[in-house]
Amino acid sequence: MTALTLSTAGAATLRADALVVGVAKGAKGPVVAPGAEAVDKAFDGKLAAVLETLGASGAEGEVTKLPSPAGLKTPVVIAVGLGAAPAKDEAYAAETLRRAAGAAARTLAGAKKAAFALPIEATEDAEAIAEGALLGAYAFTAYQGGGKKDGGPKGPLAEVALLGAKPRDKAYKAAAERAIAVTEEINRARDLVNTPPNDLTPEAFAAVASAAAKEVGVKVQVLDEKALLKGGFGGILGVGQGSQNPPRLVKLTYTHAKDSKTLALVGKGITYDSGGISLKPAGHNETMKCDMAGAAAVFAAVIAAARLGLPVNVTGWLALAENMPSGSATRPGDVLRMYSGKTVEVLNTDAEGRLVLADALWKASEEKPDAIVNVATLTGAMMVALGNRTFGIMSNDDAFRTAVHETAEEVGEQSWPMPLPADLRKGMDSPTADIANMGERMGGGLVAGLFLKEFVGEGISWAHLDIAGPAFHEGAPYGYTPKGGTGSSVRTLVRLAERIGAGDLG
Ligand code: BES
Ligand code: MN
Ligand code: ZN
Repeated sequence: MTALTLSTAGAATLRADALVVGVAKGAKGPVVAPGAEAVDKAFDGKLAAVLETLGASGAEGEVTKLPSPAGLKTPVVIAVGLGAAPAKDEAYAAETLRRAAGAAARTLAGAKKAAFALPIEATEDAEAIAEGALLGAYAFTAYQGGGKKDGGPKGPLAEVALLGAKPRDKAYKAAAERAIAVTEEINRARDLVNTPPNDLTPEAFAAVASAAAKEVGVKVQVLDEKALLKGGFGGILGVGQGSQNPPRLVKLTYTHAKDSKTLALVGKGITYDSGGISLKPAGHNETMKCDMAGAAAVFAAVIAAARLGLPVNVTGWLALAENMPSGSATRPGDVLRMYSGKTVEVLNTDAEGRLVLADALWKASEEKPDAIVNVATLTGAMMVALGNRTFGIMSNDDAFRTAVHETAEEVGEQSWPMPLPADLRKGMDSPTADIANMGERMGGGLVAGLFLKEFVGEGISWAHLDIAGPAFHEGAPYGYTPKGGTGSSVRTLVRLAERIGAGDLG
């Protein structure tokens, strides 16, 4: 785990392995960003010129490494691109700083300590830089190095020292604490997503969640397969029955002593999605360990809310199952009786996420929370629609959907509002049951959303985040986003919980 400190030291006097500065794209070449004045001075005021000679332009994502001149206590200077310099009187966008800090932290894997001298004008900037650095420093190495202590892969950058944030100022301290709690939980969600499915079974996930919850005073209830049967959770059981690893429904309850508002979070936790009897073809199942990313995000958000003592109540529901084909698996054509009492004809066992979510959504609805948000790697169709970096937001309440979208924007997560067109419902009509788990192929992401909507209690504002695109990153790392699990939507959920607690939503 990477440590974060706020330092009052000047950029020229701090001892570290590297000093990170910002460089923006100016009209006539690279421009050194605020925060790096002392560094520029050590370069005789020629840092921008040196960077230009080295081919740097200040473009976003660009990383240039320079040996330090005499006068600095760090052997290396790392200049990260910030993109176009903001207009006079305008600050850098928080997400720009977050990504730049992340890119720098990534290149510093294996280093002990790096000082970040990026532009800070307000606590939000310090928080974004801290978040970016702590997220960029992430490395998943648990399965590498042959178990040897040395000679293994590089660990993450060990310490981030933030310059330009005021360590004795309460607001800056709070921003740092928030960044630490949120990023540690995001990184824990990433670990869960990256853990191979032979190790992360529903039972193992439930055990990790229980242990973490207990540490921060969050109440945990785990329904095992017997309890699920007794409770009538036909959706979760139907998905899990083909696997040797039985399903679980985990409830996490974070209660604030004074606040009366409650947000319920529901996560899809398919620890492996083979497709079941409607087996996925090769090429479509290699990354399906990521299919529990929604549950990981919900878990992370509840624990982060508890660690921060947010003035709101948050319940987290993790619907955990493994979707496998076997002689005991649900067949296409089977009818499941769901927890809500509705029957579902399973036409495609690969449309399993909506089945586990339906049970958890109905269960969550019984407590009449002020709002419900579910998070799921639900459909390939959402990736076709929005690409790999943007999650879709669907809702039964337009104002709530807008609020969720704005919240995501605020914390720097890409998302887009999607409709739930009523005409797509008839495609799920079943001759045998109340509804089928599949409908028209066109608009498949919205069809899935319409299915979920039927399992949300009357009068509750609900939003569905389809994170199938951004949950798992297969391309080259960028900014603070590593390969593999990303922790998508955790920052949105935490901020949303805060807003609901403060009563500034609908
Ligand atoms: N887990 C998948 C969706 C998915 C695909 C997530 C790719 C991440 C990357 C989901 O369970 C699924 O298989 N959905 C089907 C639904 C279809 C059978 C109606 C899909 O999208 O093809
Ligand atoms: Mn599936
Ligand atoms: Zn799935």
